Amino acid sequence: MSTITFLTQPFRDKKLTVRLAPQEQRTLLSLIQEYKLPKKCTCGEGKCGSCAVKVAPMHRQTGPRTVRLSDEERTALFKSGKLSRQQYESDGLPDIPPLWRLACQYVVMDEEIMVAF
Ligand code: FES
Repeated sequence: MSTITFLTQPFRDKKLTVRLAPQEQRTLLSLIQEYKLPKKCTCGEGKCGSCAVKVAPMHRQTGPRTVRLSDEERTALFKSGKLSRQQYESDGLPDIPPLWRLACQYVVMDEEIMVAF
């Protein structure tokens, strides 16, 4: 099961928490659109960077974990200033997932996360 808590302007005092059934795979963008959250996303293909959101785990990660961004996501985040040059040039980001991710490329996978924008 996945739990996604959105912290957005209209929900500043109340958080919006969405729970997905086990094995249900959704992008953050599809949830943003379904719940009509105020985030403008232009291309939906990982190219423009307009859908960048902050993603953090609700609980401390256990064990080593490597996050690999696709070339498109890495490039879009770098061009929009959300990824440092060091992160951009790295092949993988062991143990420290980048704070900014593209909502259109982020597939929620059995995790509890907080998403802010
Ligand atoms: S909507 Fe353009 S990169 Fe996600």
